[in-house]
Amino acid sequence: MRAIRREDGGIERAMRVMVTGGAGYIGSVVVEALLAAGAEKVVVLDDLSKGHRAAVTPPAVLVQADIADRAAVRHLCGEHGIEVAVHLAAVSLVGESVTDPARYYGANLVKGLALLDALLESGVRRLVFSSTAAVYGEPAESPITEDFELLPTNPYGDTKLAFERALAWYASAYGLRYASLRYFNAAGASERNGEHHQPETHLVPLVLAAARQGNAPVSVFGDDYDTPDGTCLRDYVHVCDLATAHVAAIAATNAYPQRVYNLGCGGSGYSVLDVVAAARRVTGRDIAIRRAPRRAGDPAVLVASSTRIRRELAWAPARDDLEVIVEDAWRWMLAHPDGYGIAP
Ligand code: UFG
Repeated sequence: MRAIRREDGGIERAMRVMVTGGAGYIGSVVVEALLAAGAEKVVVLDDLSKGHRAAVTPPAVLVQADIADRAAVRHLCGEHGIEVAVHLAAVSLVGESVTDPARYYGANLVKGLALLDALLESGVRRLVFSSTAAVYGEPAESPITEDFELLPTNPYGDTKLAFERALAWYASAYGLRYASLRYFNAAGASERNGEHHQPETHLVPLVLAAARQGNAPVSVFGDDYDTPDGTCLRDYVHVCDLATAHVAAIAATNAYPQRVYNLGCGGSGYSVLDVVAAARRVTGRDIAIRRAPRRAGDPAVLVASSTRIRRELAWAPARDDLEVIVEDAWRWMLAHPDGYGIAP
């Protein structure tokens, strides 16, 4: 199929875009990418339950409200003449979703549908959705293409899949046009924005925090997987590359009524021990590890086939080297030793 991204990487014309979750880790970098691509207006809708006010890059505007507050969404869309929505706001901890599924179905599905209704009522019919590799569950083969069976093994993945399914039906019934991006492992940072979760559960920031603090060792969850070094393989994508894919995906909603894309670098992936080794090289510090039991629900290998997004959207990661990803995360951590400070 033909590539539809503009040569200069910009969006098709100056657009007015709403970004839910735009004060969060990935959303904040998506906002930066939209501004850099020439969006006329970027409005962030975020309740700041997890996001950070300081992560919203001016001239993007922050509206602090719940995504399910239909009146607030309608008002925002009308006031700013929103044409496209990028929906990232979600709860996203796999383990927590198993112990508290109600929170996940409520936040990701019920609230997401309320948002969708308000968008349609406001005449906004183009959407880019932040989905996840967790919709595939634990596939036996690799790399994963978009037509693999969808068998989520936890409520988090199931809520994202349920929302994707709603999008497909809404597209045929109400003329919604959407692109769903199934993220693999986001990591790294832009100059301005980086990863600051409370609690932090992701490997890259945990390894770098261990390098900085030099006290507690990093737990390696399982070393007896069927992989070259026995630890899990993942497809790490630089958050800036992830962000430019959203700009391309907005254009995709013009070309295709509904599309799903894996968003990873492809290749053979990197193991947990590869990440630790890269962090040792980048930081020049010793990072102690301790072998720990497998974490429930971790597939051995999660690596994307990124053929579809490369071919259809002419997207390619500019920073697919693990060391570059870790280096950018490290630079941001050193420049922001307290992250964004105390959560608001
Ligand atoms: N890991 C460790 N020690 C840690 C933290 C993680 O060994 O302290 C390992 C994990 O077991 C896994 C790898 O490092 O093998 C990466 O773990 P992350 O928690 O950083 O990321 P996940 O691959 O578990 O999660 C990502 C996304 C989720 C998504 C999931 C799909 O962050 O949103 O992929 O399974 F749901």
